[in-house]
Amino acid sequence: MITPFDSWACPLDALPMKRVGNSLICPNHHTYDYTRAGYVHLLPVQLKKSHAPGDNKEMVQARRTFLNTGLYTPILNAVAQVTKTYIAQHPMNHRFVFIDAGCGEGYYTVGLIERLKMFVDKNISVLGFDISREAVMSASKRNKKFDWAVATNKKIPVIGSGADGLFSLFGFPVWSEFERVVQTGGFVAVADTGKNHLTELRRCVYERVIIKESATHPIPNGFTLLKEVPVCYQLSDMSLPVADALLKMTPHYYRMSADKYASFTANPPHTVTIDTVLRIYKRL
Ligand SMILES: C[S@@+](CC[C@H](N)C(=O)[O-])C[C@H]1O[C@@H](n2cnc3c(N)ncnc32)[C@H](O)[C@@H]1O
Repeated sequence: MITPFDSWACPLDALPMKRVGNSLICPNHHTYDYTRAGYVHLLPVQLKKSHAPGDNKEMVQARRTFLNTGLYTPILNAVAQVTKTYIAQHPMNHRFVFIDAGCGEGYYTVGLIERLKMFVDKNISVLGFDISREAVMSASKRNKKFDWAVATNKKIPVIGSGADGLFSLFGFPVWSEFERVVQTGGFVAVADTGKNHLTELRRCVYERVIIKESATHPIPNGFTLLKEVPVCYQLSDMSLPVADALLKMTPHYYRMSADKYASFTANPPHTVTIDTVLRIYKRL
């Protein structure tokens, strides 16, 4: 059973917040109203470095167009499998809290919730948040009733040690915060790209594509690496609109000259390599 998320902490003073009517309120009376779109804005100006941080509208729309094709379903399935295994190992009366930190336009958050609905006898809540308002507005269009917030990884608006699992999928981990919010025995799932990821697309952008080994990943404080799940496959028969959306959801597009983009649209790659890895860290 999916239940509302209720482990909120005030982004200003970190005190627990209660939902009263259409607002979240902390004991110091900091009040955050839900928008009509169904999300809550928990990114006070003090925590912003720019007027509109995070992904812009074009990137969000491109990501939605691409992810809606289902071509990243294997990555979603890997995330869901890790979560289901965790749930199955816990007692019946455990209340599960999962957080999608940097949820983008909500593809994985909603996909995960759909895949967890099978646990009808468990109490599960899921929060998706992102620093980009455009992304969260788009996520709340996927489902208004789910819990969505504009917030930053640098100050996650969640009570300490409250989460069973936290997902940082192609995002920007802030390990000190992940350590604070995830309970002992809980997990953080981090999706990252490997050295061959989108090679064919990158060849359309850069004169030389250097395939270098991925950076090493030191184990963060307070965690141990449980396992690495490679998710690697080829996309074939890609149409121009799909290849275009995939390109535009990456930073590569923003480094592309007009000439390169013209030759990409004239001759888009039909096969693209997906090379990703899901790393699961257990909170000690
Ligand atoms: C590559 S996208 C991935 C989005 C989503 N997890 C997915 O895989 O579809 C990275 C996301 O991180 C968000 N982001 C960047 N900095 C952030 C921060 N400090 N806190 C929360 N989200 C952040 C961006 O707005 C963007 O939506």
